[in-house]
Amino acid sequence: MPFSFADPAAASRPLHLVEAAEAAAFVAGRSDAERAWLDALGFTGALGQIYVLPGLDGAPAGAVFGWGSAATRRRGRFQIARAVADLPSGDWHLEGDLSPREAEEAALGWLLATYRFTRYKSVKTPVARLKAPAGVDAARLLAIAEGEALTRDLINTPAADMGPAELEDAFTTLGRRFGAEIRVIRGDDLLAHGFPMIHAVGRASDRAPRLLDLTWGEAGPRLTLVGKGVCFDTGGLDIKPAASMGLMKKDMGGAATVIGLAHMIMALGLKLRLRVLVPAVENAVGGNAFRPQDILKSRKGLTVEINNTDAEGRLVLADALALADEEKPDLLVSMATLTGAARVAVGPDLAPYFCDDDIIAAALAEAGATIADPLWRLPFWEPYETMIEPGIADLDNAPAGGMAGSITAALFLRRFVTDTPRYAHFDIYGWQPKAEPGRPKGGVGQGARALLEALPGVLGL
Ligand code: BES
Ligand code: MN
Ligand code: ZN
Repeated sequence: MPFSFADPAAASRPLHLVEAAEAAAFVAGRSDAERAWLDALGFTGALGQIYVLPGLDGAPAGAVFGWGSAATRRRGRFQIARAVADLPSGDWHLEGDLSPREAEEAALGWLLATYRFTRYKSVKTPVARLKAPAGVDAARLLAIAEGEALTRDLINTPAADMGPAELEDAFTTLGRRFGAEIRVIRGDDLLAHGFPMIHAVGRASDRAPRLLDLTWGEAGPRLTLVGKGVCFDTGGLDIKPAASMGLMKKDMGGAATVIGLAHMIMALGLKLRLRVLVPAVENAVGGNAFRPQDILKSRKGLTVEINNTDAEGRLVLADALALADEEKPDLLVSMATLTGAARVAVGPDLAPYFCDDDIIAAALAEAGATIADPLWRLPFWEPYETMIEPGIADLDNAPAGGMAGSITAALFLRRFVTDTPRYAHFDIYGWQPKAEPGRPKGGVGQGARALLEALPGVLGL
C-alpha cells in the first residue's frame, strides 16, 4: 500500500490542535462566524473532538481538534490519528505546539490511520493527507508505515487466499524487491533437510508445509528473525472450539510481523546481515495428522511428546530456531501468536516479550515507548522448566493445567536456542479487536517498530 505525505509546497488546510485549557481563548480569538459555529457545536478542546471550519464559500477552511490534556492523551497512542477518519479528503497540516516526539507520533499515526484493507472492496475511498511536520524523518516513517501495512495485509487476507504457498509468494516478492537471497524447502523435502516438526504439523493439509529462508545484507552484525507462519490453526486433531477458531487466519501474525520488519530494515538500508525464517504451515485435521501422544524428534535432536496438537506453533518454531541457532547470530528474535495465555495476561494492546539480557530488554521497552509500540517483559522463569518435562520424552508441548502458559511456551522455545546468547521472543496477538487511533479493526503488527528503534543501540549500528 503506497503511503505519502502531502507535497510541502502545495496549499493545505490547517488542523488546529487546541488543548482543553486553551479552548476558550482559542474560540474567543476566531472570527465572529467561526466563534458562533464552535460555540454552537460545544467545542471544549476535549480530546478527540473534531469540527471542520466552513469557509465563507462553504468549502472547508480548516478544522479544530480537541487536544485534551497531558493526562487524557496518555490514555492512548496516536491520538491525532482520531481526526483522520472525520476530515474531508485533501491536504492538511498541523497547527499547535508539538514536541519533536509528539510530531513524529502524529505523523506516523496519521499514516497508519489511512491504512485500508482494500483487496476485497470494489469501492476505494480517498483519504485526508498530512504534510509531514517540520523536523520529522518522513522517509523513515513512510518505510515504517509500508512495513506495517504489509503485515496488516498478510494477516487480514483470509486463509483461503493466504496459505503456505501464498505466504511464500509474499515473502519472495519482498525479498526480490530488495535483492535478497531466498531458499524454500517444501513438503517432504523438509524431512530430508532435517525439519521433522515443521513437516509433522503441516503434513495433514493439502497445502504443503514449507520453510522460507531469506538472507540480505553484505556486512555488519547478524540479525535473525523467526516468525510463526501458521496460515490457519484448526487446532489439529485436538480441534479448537468454534469460538477459538474464528480468528485463526491471524495465526501467521508472527510471520507477517517479521516480514513487515524485514521490509522496514531493507527499505531503510540498515547496515546489518538479515536472515528471516518462516515455517509456513496449515495446522489441519486429516487422516495423516500428527496425534496426541505422538513423540516427534526435532531438528535439534530433542524429542517432544505431543499432549495437544493445538500447541503447534512452538513445534514449527523449534525447528526454525534450531536452524537459526546453528549460525549463532548476534541477535535472534522470534515472533509468534503463540498462546491464548499471553492475550489473557496483557490483552491486545501490549506485546509480552522474553529476553534474558537485561540491557536488551530495557532497550526494547524504552524503544517501544518512544515509537508507540508498547511492550511488557515477562520472565523465562527457570523454576517452571520442570513443567515442560513430562516423562517419556525430553519435552512436553502442552503442559497440563496451562499455568503460566506464555512462560512455558517461551521456555520451550528457549530449549532450541543454546548457542546464541542474545535471544528475544515476542508472544504477540496480531489483531486489533476494535478500531483504535491508527489501528483499524483487523490485523496489526506488534513489536516490529520497537525492534527497529532499538536495533542501532543493541547491535551497535
Ligand atoms: N495460535 C494459538 C494461540 C492463540 C490463541 C493466540 C488465541 C492468540 C489467540 C496456539 O497455537 C494455541 O492454540 N495455543 C494453545 C496452547 C495450549 C494448547 C498449550 C493455547 O494457548 O491455548
Ligand atoms: Mn494452536
Ligand atoms: Zn497456533
